[in-house]
Amino acid sequence: MKVSVWKGGAQGAFQEFEVPRFPSQTVLDVVTHIQRALDPTLAYRYACRVGMCGSCAMTVNGVPRWTCRTHVDRVVRNESLSIAPLRNLPVIRDLVTDMSVFFDKWARAKGQFQGSRTKDEDFERIKPSSSERRQADAGIECIGCAVCYSACDVVAWNPDYLGPAALNRAWTLVKDERDAAKLERLRAVAGDAGCHSCHTHMSCTERCPKHISPTAGIAGLKREILKAAFRNEL
Ligand code: SF4
Ligand code: SF4
Ligand code: FES
Repeated sequence: MKVSVWKGGAQGAFQEFEVPRFPSQTVLDVVTHIQRALDPTLAYRYACRVGMCGSCAMTVNGVPRWTCRTHVDRVVRNESLSIAPLRNLPVIRDLVTDMSVFFDKWARAKGQFQGSRTKDEDFERIKPSSSERRQADAGIECIGCAVCYSACDVVAWNPDYLGPAALNRAWTLVKDERDAAKLERLRAVAGDAGCHSCHTHMSCTERCPKHISPTAGIAGLKREILKAAFRNEL
């Protein structure tokens, strides 16, 4: 098949390669073949190859995807593929983007667990079946791949917007009964760059490879902020 791969930084261009097909071939296999056999200078990123680490996401035929779990058969069109870096992130080189801004936004959304107990106290017992825990668990399997971030048009229009992944992380912590920083976190995501900027386009939810719905979490954050505002807590 013909494969067009982005080479260079933001001002780079697509370069074409011929790559042999084989059964169960993934898009990451294609990129690896190009780097090993055709162009050793090609820069790309991956670690686990089994959908755990979140580092292999790229834009494949215009759509953000985790490449290690995307089979060529599913995405190839007319025996051709185009592979580019993720949208909405600065390109370092070829298929490698700078993820700092993405993870800085997790920090801005107060994405760190803040417990209240010391190591001398007993564990807090939370029922896995409790409504709060189930809502937190629905978003907890995020692998930080930035597929949703790349799919979100609001991030493209407003680079300051925290984006679906950071807001989903904030939601899982707001719903975590052990966490002691709920109001601080709601304040962090309530501003102009926070959850109220979401236009509910659902692209993040459609694209998330872990079947998480950041859209639902963001709607939940809006409800929690409204409730806290009525109670004069914010
Ligand atoms: S639902 Fe919100 S966060 Fe998700 S892609 Fe749409 S605008 Fe972005
Ligand atoms: S919410 Fe889904 S798409 Fe977004 S970073 Fe997490 S796993 Fe990736
Ligand atoms: S290489 Fe780890 S998720 Fe794809």
